[in-house]
Amino acid sequence: MKIPHIFATANQKGGVGKTTTAITLGSSLSLFGYRVLLVDLDPQASLTNHLAIEPEKLEYSVANLMVSDSFEPSDAVINKYRLKNGGCVDIIPSNINLARIEAELSVSKGGGLKLRDKLKFFKDNYDYIIIDSSPALSVLLISAVAACDEIIIPVMSDFLSVRGVDLLLSTIGKIEKALDSRCTFRLLITMFDRRTNSSLKSAEYFKNKYKNSHFSSIINIDTKFRDASLIRKPLTYVDVHSRGAIDYINVAREIIDASDGEEFNRTEVRDE
Ligand SMILES: Nc1ncnc2c1ncn2[C@@H]1O[C@H](COP(=O)(O)OP(=O)(O)O)[C@@H](O)[C@H]1O
Ligand SMILES: [Mg+2]
Repeated sequence: MKIPHIFATANQKGGVGKTTTAITLGSSLSLFGYRVLLVDLDPQASLTNHLAIEPEKLEYSVANLMVSDSFEPSDAVINKYRLKNGGCVDIIPSNINLARIEAELSVSKGGGLKLRDKLKFFKDNYDYIIIDSSPALSVLLISAVAACDEIIIPVMSDFLSVRGVDLLLSTIGKIEKALDSRCTFRLLITMFDRRTNSSLKSAEYFKNKYKNSHFSSIINIDTKFRDASLIRKPLTYVDVHSRGAIDYINVAREIIDASDGEEFNRTEVRDE
């Protein structure tokens, strides 16, 4: 099976940890020295905002990358965190222009494949790419499914989240069929609160139902995520020893372990 390097978060439920996962997992991978590109594919631009980039002031965004064939893809990238150990977290930001081009993408032939084609440009520049999806089941989800090797489905550990996963998986299945493409998926249990019965029971339910398709690590509830978003940095950079940071570092390890033995073609990057 193909070892995944391009991930996309997805869940039509809002507030389940999609953006937090893209940011914190991406920055965790960078701590191990990997070069990471985060792609904000949500017109709400939460990831962009969270990383202290002003969406309304952007010269270019993911929208330029997806609609313009003459656009230089590297112009859409903001170099944000360059680390001494060679890792980095770069960002292709988003803003409301993405909502404007959604209609255009939905009606144009191959509109859902644009992102996949454009990301090929970055293949050698990054070890991992993580796309942060919007909650809408729209052409943006189609674009994410077409572009990624693996979908990460963050699920909150409560019973209200149980039904939504099957709907999402059936939608993803239909998209794959229409595109004749294949990606794997894994559930990531988020906001786990070991003190509540509902968290314990729903986590057990998810693990049993999606036996081979979930991360072993789970993400505990940690108020520090909100603190990190207030100061607009990844939690791993604010407090690498916090519960939440450690949990995402464990998820990063699971991903890295799967790539063990693969040759990474790293280039030198400057220190910040
Ligand atoms: N494990 C967690 N513990 C506590 N709060 C969390 C956790 N993960 C995310 N959050 C918070 O929950 C809110 C929603 O998370 P977010 O990642 O924006 O969800 P989504 O992208 O699915 O809408 C944010 O305020 C975020 O800081
Ligand atoms: Mg989000």
